[in-house]
Amino acid sequence: MKINPSILSADFSKLADELNAISSADAAHIDVMDNHFVPNLTIGLPVVKRLQQVSPIPLDVHLMIEKVDSEAPKYAQLGVDSITFHLEASESPHELISTLRASGAKVGIALKPGTPFAAVTDFLDEIDMLLIMTVEPGFGGQSLLEETLVKIAQARSYLDTRKSDVILQVDGGVNLSNIGKLSELGANCAVAGIAVFGSGTPSDNISALRRAASHS
Ligand code: DX5
Ligand code: ZN
Repeated sequence: MKINPSILSADFSKLADELNAISSADAAHIDVMDNHFVPNLTIGLPVVKRLQQVSPIPLDVHLMIEKVDSEAPKYAQLGVDSITFHLEASESPHELISTLRASGAKVGIALKPGTPFAAVTDFLDEIDMLLIMTVEPGFGGQSLLEETLVKIAQARSYLDTRKSDVILQVDGGVNLSNIGKLSELGANCAVAGIAVFGSGTPSDNISALRRAASHS
């Protein structure tokens, strides 16, 4: 299981230090929120640009923004490793995927808890990652919604049947108690905010999450 800590729960006054504290992780998950697609506002292009310059690990950018068709390509041009956009926010997903790809970024599509898996099947051949939100996007520190688990199993079975290597990422409420179950259901990349930055040492928390995922 890949572990991508979400810096939403990090100390925003010292993001470079926080990125160094998670250098053992697979990638840093960067939550971009515009206060329109979700009722919260985080960071935008200039900050992500600096994070990309100083990060010791790849950046996994999760865009929770409304005008994604025009804005997402600007993030891809920063050279970040991957860009994930919400299917609910894009008017022309096929076109957006190819624009992002042309910038050299890996591409992910995210689904809110209420969006069925069937909505994304047309795009799976074109993307690198499917993000199944396990909470309503907008805030860190929420509890995982049990009703989203069936979608993970559904996605895993669909991808395996087609021998697809699309990464299955889960985001929201992931912790030591449920990461084993998420791994069993077929997720192979977990975002974790509070579970990494909440208490203790981020690097120890990352190791503990990896162990818990493999001992399911
Ligand atoms: C929520 C964000 C998540 C969030 C996860 O909208 O997309 O990445 O930071 O935080 P935890 O792990 O604390 O639920
Ligand atoms: Zn996220």
